[in-house]
Amino acid sequence: MRMATPTGNERVRDYPEEAVIRIEGLRKSYGKVIAVDGVDLEVRRGEVFGILGPNGAGKTTTLEMIEGLRKPDSGEIEVAGYDAVRETEKLKKIVGVQLQTTALFDYLSIEETLGLFADLYGADSSPERIRKLLEMVSLTEKAKARVDQLSGGQQQRLSMALALVNDPKVVFLDEPTTGLDPQARRNMWDLVRDIQRQDRTVVLTTHYMEEAEELCDRVAVMDHGKILVCDTPLALIRSLDVDATVLVTVEGDLDGTLEQLPGVDNVEREDNEVRLRTRSTQETITGLMGLAAERGVRLHNLSVRSANLEDVFISYTGRSLRE
Ligand SMILES: Nc1ncnc2c1ncn2[C@@H]1O[C@H](COP(=O)(O)OP(=O)(O)OP(=O)(O)O)[C@@H](O)[C@H]1O
Ligand SMILES: [Mg+2]
Repeated sequence: MRMATPTGNERVRDYPEEAVIRIEGLRKSYGKVIAVDGVDLEVRRGEVFGILGPNGAGKTTTLEMIEGLRKPDSGEIEVAGYDAVRETEKLKKIVGVQLQTTALFDYLSIEETLGLFADLYGADSSPERIRKLLEMVSLTEKAKARVDQLSGGQQQRLSMALALVNDPKVVFLDEPTTGLDPQARRNMWDLVRDIQRQDRTVVLTTHYMEEAEELCDRVAVMDHGKILVCDTPLALIRSLDVDATVLVTVEGDLDGTLEQLPGVDNVEREDNEVRLRTRSTQETITGLMGLAAERGVRLHNLSVRSANLEDVFISYTGRSLRE
């Protein structure tokens, strides 16, 4: 597990299963729209926990209820021993919430913004503390810059620092890397791991399966207000019958025969591009080669992609995460 890093925290390793968040029977509707439809979850102390799901799955609504910002229709939420519905004031002191950057004052400098937020939280706003926060999110050089002079990735890092001003035990990040380029995304992942190493629990939402796979110790897959399944990325992927997806360009006609290949579960075609989901990569490829030779059909760009969280989502919903 990623928790047991050399710089990791001993207490986390001693009590790996201790729940810091407990949710039972959580429900929320907006008029006729059922946004969250009976969610039960447990988040363990010290983990990076991901809620993975497509647009409209109910991720933000769930997160905002756990943060104490939105009132559930029904259900119980306990965060670090506090009732998230009835003890929101106490909750505020121990959780950090990543705010949308649009809510910031463009005309303040980065350090002024951090100082302002620290004061609002009644937290330490000393120059040393602000310096430390800036260092943590690699914005030291930008201390005097104005918020509107930051790049997208820098603004995301600033909002991460703002989520940390009150030295929270639990940090909530709602789609922390949406809109970032791959390099900025990786920087953000490193930052999340740094936060985890400081004995904090991180709960984040994402619709990027690579992010969930790479960054999260455990992932809850959410769709239509429900948690479909929750486990480590590896356990989720291993639980599938699917071994891999074989991708190949077919020059010629193999219609109707691909489904019959050994191991094949599902066939998708787009012009000449074929995707075969298989339970047995070796048998499928051997069969495919034989079939192509028999029919005098040429194959190009043959590649194999291991099963991933996308396949987990497909197997539970029958559709792709991206659709
Ligand atoms: N304030 C609101 N009023 C009415 N309906 C809402 C409100 N907020 C969310 N919804 C609806 O509730 C459902 C869940 O929305 P939510 O924002 O929780 O999804 P999400 O998983 O965070 O999606 P995204 O990936 O797009 O951020 C959606 O159908 C959405 O349209
Ligand atoms: Mg959302």
